[in-house]
Amino acid sequence: MDPVISVRQLGSDDWQEWRAMRLAALAEAPDAFCSTLEEWSGEGDREDRWRARLEEVELNLFAEIDGRVGGMVSATGPVDGESELISMWVAPEERGKGVGDALVRAVLCWARRQGARRVALDVREGNRHALALYERQGFADSGEAPGPDEPFPELHMLAHLG
Ligand SMILES: CC(C)(COP(=O)(O)OP(=O)(O)OC[C@H]1O[C@@H](n2cnc3c(N)ncnc32)[C@H](O)[C@@H]1OP(=O)(O)O)[C@@H](O)C(=O)NCCC(=O)NCCS
Repeated sequence: MDPVISVRQLGSDDWQEWRAMRLAALAEAPDAFCSTLEEWSGEGDREDRWRARLEEVELNLFAEIDGRVGGMVSATGPVDGESELISMWVAPEERGKGVGDALVRAVLCWARRQGARRVALDVREGNRHALALYERQGFADSGEAPGPDEPFPELHMLAHLG
């Protein structure tokens, strides 16, 4: 039987759950994110900081697979019609089950309800699993050149909301 995937929204009181998943993501896929495990460990690993992160970024989602937490994503509220999808991660043991698709769909649906006209994201050029996922969900390369300070080649992708 196909697994049942559900998506739930977190608030700042869920910071401990978020922290555990986010630290796992930063440890497992350091190349995928601008933030680093170092920045969120030691002195940087504080309740007020995790709570602030969950308050500043409007949408924070967990995906659950048959009740197990297996993925996460966030999105900013629209500014000039554009929301940004960030912090996408699916735990290695839950990959290839449609969790990434469920999370991206939930972000697109939320952004549309918030009145966004498009959703943007940045992805490293070599991250082929993420690229395939985003293209499948309607994102395309915006053609925008990466900034001069970009340490790694990244694509800026956009999904236009109908
Ligand atoms: C990108 C990512 C979110 C995709 O999640 P997902 O739900 O597994 O996506 P898909 O179901 O589309 O995966 C497609 C296929 O790639 C495989 N796959 C996905 N990510 C993989 C990885 N990092 N390593 C090896 N195989 C991977 C899946 O098993 C699946 O294979 P299958 O079709 O043969 O079963 C996930 O790989 C991930 O969290 N990667 C690390 C963090 C990251 O890159 N985030 C995006 C930042 S922009």
